[in-house]
This record gives sequence, C-alpha cells and structure tokens, in this order.
Amino acid sequence: MSAPTIRIHPLAVRITHWVNAFALLLMVLSGWRIYNASPLFGFSFPKDWTLGGWLAGALQWHFAAMWLLFLNGIAYLAYGVVSGHFRRKLLPLSPRAALRDALDALRLRLRHDDLSVYNAAQRAAYLAAIALGVLLVLSGLVLWKPVQLQTLGALMGDYEGARYVHFFSMAGIVLFVAVHVLMVALVPRSLPTMITGRFRRTS
Ligand code: HEM
Repeated sequence: MSAPTIRIHPLAVRITHWVNAFALLLMVLSGWRIYNASPLFGFSFPKDWTLGGWLAGALQWHFAAMWLLFLNGIAYLAYGVVSGHFRRKLLPLSPRAALRDALDALRLRLRHDDLSVYNAAQRAAYLAAIALGVLLVLSGLVLWKPVQLQTLGALMGDYEGARYVHFFSMAGIVLFVAVHVLMVALVPRSLPTMITGRFRRTS
C-alpha cells in the first residue's frame, strides 16, 4: 500500500501565494515602465520587459494590481498570524542555522527531504520576503499620497527617500524570487505541494 499523503500547505496559503506571485509580476513589470519615465539611476529597463506601453498605461496597471497585492497581502498576513501558521512554519529562526543552511544550499548540499518543515534558510528568506513586501507597499503608499502620509514619508526621507526605499525593496524581492524559483527547480517535488497542498512521505 502506498504511503498516505499529508497536508502541508493550507488552502489559504496556496491561494494567497499564487495571487501574490501574479500581482507582483504585474506590479514589477508596470513599475519598471514607470521608472523608465524618470530613472533614479543611470539605466532604464528594456521596454520589452515592461507592461503598460507608456507612462499612463503603466500607472493604470500599477494602481489596479496594487489593490490585488494589498488586499491579498492583508489576507495572508492575517491568516498567518491568527491561525498560528507563521509561528509553526517560519519560527523559531536562528541566524546561525540560517547561515549554515544558506551555505549548504550554495554548495548544493542542503537536503529538503521532509517538505512539511522549512529549513532555516527558507524561514529567513520567507520572513525577509514578507518584510520587503510590507516595505514595498508602505513606500508605494507614500509615493501615491505624499501629503496625506507625510509622517510615514518622513521616516523614509520624504518623497525622494521613499523612491529609493521603493526601488531597493523591489530589487530585494526580485532577487528573492530569482533564488526562490532556482531552489524550487533544484527540489522540483516542492512545486506540486504548493498547488495541491499535499505530499507523500517516502520514509
Ligand atoms: C513562479 C514563481 C514561484 C514559484 C514557482 C514558487 C514556488 C513556491 C513553492 C514550491 C513553495 C513551497 C516551498 C516548500 O514547500 O519547500 C513556496 C513557498 C513560498 N513562496 Fe513561492 N513561488 C513563486 C513565487 C513567489 C513570490 C513572487 C513570492 C513573494 C515575493 C513567494 C513567496 C513565498 C513564500 C513567502 C513562501 C512560504 C509560504 C508560507 O508557507 O507561508 N513565492 N513557493
């Protein structure tokens, strides 16, 4: 008889995970088009990698996807805190263990046999991605309503500072996603678990 499957990713986490991935894709691609209209640094993003066609079109995509990202993010955070999901799956986190697991992952030595438990490098990366997502939304809100959100803006160095915070939190999330997708490619068994929620223990 084959081993029974166990549920490792709750439905709320799976839905919010994929909605988040979709909303972030729209936000990043339209954001790059908005950036190109007034670059902060000495480079622009290739036009083919952007969404919206022109500044006004990109702003419309950005504002539409913003609500999806924001409401979905609130749902994920509320579920994570209230259900105890964050406490169970992302905590406790030891910086020493996170560093050890990250180094093992770089040497392709990190084992991820029990998919029901995140290793310390995963916990650190997921918590960092969540924190960057919050920073991304807060700095975006400051750029959208700089007068109404002056106090929050002052914490980021006002409008200009918020542009840098927004850019670097975007860059951090893009880097996280690149590493995250690479890790999933290295452990492909983990992908179906984020769709069905279930996994079959082999030992
Ligand atoms: C095509 C893109 C993506 C793929 C294929 C993917 C795949 C996965 C998989 C398979 C897991 C479960 C890992 C495991 O069980 O070991 C996971 C978890 C997670 N992913 Fe992604 N992901 C993608 C995009 C994203 C994006 C854009 C973000 C956010 C910036 C993200 C954030 C997370 C987080 C926070 C978790 C942990 C969820 C929890 O348990 O609360 N992912 N992802």
